[in-house]
Amino acid sequence: VGYVGRTMDDTALEVVMEGLTRLEYRGYDSAGVALVTDDGIAAEKRSGKLENLRSALDAHPLAASRTGIGHTRWATHGGPTDGNAHPHRGGDGSRLALIHNGIIENFHALKKELLADGVDFDSETDTEVAAKLVGREYDRVGDLTLAMRSVVQRLEGAFTLLAVHADSPGVVVGARRNSPLVVGLGEGENFLGSDVAAFIGHTRHALELGQDQIVTITPDGYEVIGFDGTPAEGKAYEVTWDAAAAEKGGYPTFMEKEIHDQPHAVADTLLGRTDDAGRLVLDEVRISEEQLRAVERITIVACGTAAYAGMVAKYAIEHWTRIPVEVSLAHEFRYCDPIVDGTTLVVSISQSGETMDTLMAVKHAAELGAMTLSICNTHGSTIPRESDAVLYTHAGPEIAVASTKAFLAQITASYVLGLYLAQLRGETYADDAKSVMAELQGIPDKIDELLGRMDRVVEMASFMADTRSVLFLGRNVGYPVAMEGALKLKELAYIHAEGFAAGELKHGPIALIDAGQPVFIVVPSPEAPHELHKKVVSNIQEIRARGARTIVIAHDGDDDVEPFANEVIRIPNCSPMLAPLLAVVPLQVFALHLSTAKGLDVDQPRNLAKSVTVE
Ligand code: G6P
Repeated sequence: VGYVGRTMDDTALEVVMEGLTRLEYRGYDSAGVALVTDDGIAAEKRSGKLENLRSALDAHPLAASRTGIGHTRWATHGGPTDGNAHPHRGGDGSRLALIHNGIIENFHALKKELLADGVDFDSETDTEVAAKLVGREYDRVGDLTLAMRSVVQRLEGAFTLLAVHADSPGVVVGARRNSPLVVGLGEGENFLGSDVAAFIGHTRHALELGQDQIVTITPDGYEVIGFDGTPAEGKAYEVTWDAAAAEKGGYPTFMEKEIHDQPHAVADTLLGRTDDAGRLVLDEVRISEEQLRAVERITIVACGTAAYAGMVAKYAIEHWTRIPVEVSLAHEFRYCDPIVDGTTLVVSISQSGETMDTLMAVKHAAELGAMTLSICNTHGSTIPRESDAVLYTHAGPEIAVASTKAFLAQITASYVLGLYLAQLRGETYADDAKSVMAELQGIPDKIDELLGRMDRVVEMASFMADTRSVLFLGRNVGYPVAMEGALKLKELAYIHAEGFAAGELKHGPIALIDAGQPVFIVVPSPEAPHELHKKVVSNIQEIRARGARTIVIAHDGDDDVEPFANEVIRIPNCSPMLAPLLAVVPLQVFALHLSTAKGLDVDQPRNLAKSVTVE
């Protein structure tokens, strides 16, 4: 977070701390602030959560200021210690303070050079190298923007840098390459943030920066230039979220709130999807319909929960378009020498639009000549900007680290994409578009109803707090649901959990089953094709016979499961393809309450960050 205002008071610190509170989900193993005061830079930093920094500031208040920067860290180079926390200092008398997101890949070489020049270091971070370089350059040229410009040209890797200097009150300079940075435009005050949540309490006027750009903010204005010094213009936009959307709204945790936001997330993602002629539309298309019609294969790239949405997307898109779809974890795709060409559509799925692994996969696909399409929840983020076409999900801000409502919105958008491509290409299945869209419109009410039936799930979670291992099984679209159920439990409750394709069970995992082993089984609707329902019921019998405790997720009225289930969790009826939007909800609720029962931090699980902006 960066801030400049007109008046010399406590505002800078307040704004920066408020911004950090809203951004803490991005990383939270240490935090720090630096203010430009009449007596030079005043700074404080602490390892651990923001709370530690807050207590340190209460104990030793900083002098008044109108210029400040602040940072929460997710350690990459150097452990999460006080010393490695940002800001880092540089220049004569350490009069420069700098914060950084990303990784400076050539920092060893640069550090060696500085050490040879007699520069001392206080930390093990790559960031401090940048601080020392910008500080030294400032001492030479006396201008923060110029100093930043000459240093960024020497840096390799991905970074967002913000710097302030004791001799330049009222100025914050930011630079970005491959990492996010947005500008918030106020009156007599301006802001910088990794995303708009940083300043949403103060202004909704925002400015999106391009790659390799430097921005200088003062209380009365801003200036953008490229790393090469040429003047540039950011793209102004209005933020549609309000501050309340980024707050808990009466729920004890963001995750619980976000689970309850899911009917809206799905409904909003479906809004405005048809044109006057009743045809489905994307949000941004920078390639021709001709090109999209010519798509011969699709590769989906994503990480974590978004990759499971991608697996659901594969079933849906292949079914409706008959285009072969492959799902690749983005970090695997990037370095596997992938087979893509001008007829491949690479679809990325990302809540944040900033996941570095996914971004690098998209860039690589574009270099190889593929068309790229982004399904993304964050306007103005990097991945949609780098893509040829965009379909936004409208889940609103997702703050809890473990993804819930963004997942449902991503699945919804995937269905829309499949139907869009089917229509565009005149596939026979395009006839389904209207009826599927109509059914999708009814899903939010069903999610709502389902959320009202979670008492037994909450109860089960509370008496399963000592469970050491949980398995999840599903077939077809139920398979990614099982994977997501397991991931939620790992992320939130630190319990060993695995999701399997139910048919694979007998090929190995069944050896894990012994007396009392809890297994969740996602059962498809009895209407599912290929006798899938029967097959899954047989799988339940197989594990039940070996002593497993079977927790079955089945549609209303499906009586076939009763004899083999220790517990049945009912979900409302819907077409087999759309079932993931319902079936995953009890698994989210289960993980949330198991984590709560274990007394863990639901919104900020250990070791995780919401947006992983390093590779
Ligand atoms: C991190 C988060 C996950 C998330 C994944 C992808 O690993 O902890 O919850 O699913 O990133 O994030 P994205 O923003 O690209 O959807």
